Amino acid sequence: MTDLAPPVPGAPVLIVDDEKNIRRTLRMVLESDGHVVHEAGSIAEADAVLAQHPIDLVLLDVKLGDDNGLDFLRALRSKAEDARGDADIPVVMISGHATVDDAVAATKLGAFDFMEKPLDRNRVVVTVRNGLERRRMWREVNSLRRAVDARWELLGNTPVMNDLRRQIAKVAPTRSRVLVTGESGTGKELIARAIHRNSAVAAGAFVKVNCAAIPPELIESELFGHERGAFTGAVAKKRGLFEVADGGTIFLDEIGDMALSAQAKVLRVLQTGEFTRVGGEKSLRTDCRVVAATNRELEQMVQQGTFREDLFFRLNVVPIHSPSLRERLDDVPLLAESFVHECCDENGFAKKPVDDEVMARLKTYDWPGNVRELRNVAERLVIMSDEVIRERDLPPYLGGPRSSTAASRASTAPVTAIDLGRYANKSLREFREEVESEFIRLKLAEYEWNISRTAQALGIERTNLHKKLRALGIHRGEDGTP
Ligand SMILES: Nc1ncnc2c1ncn2[C@@H]1O[C@H](COP(=O)(O)OP(=O)(O)OP(=O)(O)O)[C@@H](O)[C@H]1O
Ligand SMILES: [Mg+2]
Repeated sequence: MTDLAPPVPGAPVLIVDDEKNIRRTLRMVLESDGHVVHEAGSIAEADAVLAQHPIDLVLLDVKLGDDNGLDFLRALRSKAEDARGDADIPVVMISGHATVDDAVAATKLGAFDFMEKPLDRNRVVVTVRNGLERRRMWREVNSLRRAVDARWELLGNTPVMNDLRRQIAKVAPTRSRVLVTGESGTGKELIARAIHRNSAVAAGAFVKVNCAAIPPELIESELFGHERGAFTGAVAKKRGLFEVADGGTIFLDEIGDMALSAQAKVLRVLQTGEFTRVGGEKSLRTDCRVVAATNRELEQMVQQGTFREDLFFRLNVVPIHSPSLRERLDDVPLLAESFVHECCDENGFAKKPVDDEVMARLKTYDWPGNVRELRNVAERLVIMSDEVIRERDLPPYLGGPRSSTAASRASTAPVTAIDLGRYANKSLREFREEVESEFIRLKLAEYEWNISRTAQALGIERTNLHKKLRALGIHRGEDGTP
């Protein structure tokens, strides 16, 4: 009796036994441990109790006169499966003439435990407390799982989104590789996660690899692992991400940014399912679902020779396109409400209503940064507004008031002569990058970080501007501006 779970006072427990004496004894034991006890002498009576009272645990006799307790157990379990989670009531089987067969059958059917008569008082207390503790944990796990799933839920009711959901539902249960394409911030990662959640390997891991963030010289060891001593710094053996994802899904994000040398290595594992750790000789196998994503035009890259054609075909078995927010502006109110709600929750604010005019503004904007930009705007609105989110809380490029400082900062920005002396020891490239950064920052400030307009003013494509920001390491808010 080492691990006695804490008592759960007031937990409703149901005793199903055709022997009145047994019920009475059990009732005394359980009530003295603080439980609320219900009794039933047959399956019909037990059904009636369950229909009227919430029950957290059932003590169930195997031989119930004409009834068989295992039938009731079976019925309870199938109800639990239909309801997924919360209806899962731990069942403790009781038997007078315990046979191994009964015990095995009950365990197979998912009984929590099995007790023999004559019942030992302490054993009853411990078993019931443990069963209740397990139910409490089931509930907690379920509610956490729901909260996590909600975080990754794809919202939207427009025809484009419903169509997307249909595609996901079709492809998810198969083993097919999927290539998710679409602009930045449209939800490609959510699509990949939805595919995993609805796949045959949902119980396995979802392993995300950001191919753009791993330096080319490390990517092989990240993906395939390394043996101890494979290179300087490899002080211990390490499993690679393909190995970690075995039995689950590997999500190759930003695959278009992967160096050609790494592409060749990935191709091999996709062709054969085999790979070798860096510094290792043994060929290892991995069995994982592969989902890749990119916001780049892989076909074009193939033509330019920057992406391997064979890898492209291996990955692009089922293409899924993630629609831009512009193509589904009718989803904006739903998304905005949901993000506002979430952000209020996180900050402990009462839910702030969004004024109609604000919603109208949000619905007519073209959202170059897609849902991610909308999420950021929603967050900003929640923080900057009072009880209701009004037009004046909007940033200027969305129709809010032009702040005098921002306007004057832009129009009166001094035309600084470039001090060439500063660059005396720099290369042409460094010079160009620094001046370019400065100029882009100036324009971004002028257009309040509206990427479309800034790009237009600079005379370059929006995607090109995004690329430049990344390359030059320019981030919003770095200089203290919102
Ligand atoms: N349909 C959607 N419903 C709810 N939230 C969404 C939806 N689409 C995107 N988001 C949210 O927008 C943000 C960006 O989504 P995600 O990271 O999946 O985009 P992405 O396409 O992978 O972008 P990138 O190419 O920049 O990596 C996340 O915060 C995500 O939760
Ligand atoms: Mg992404």
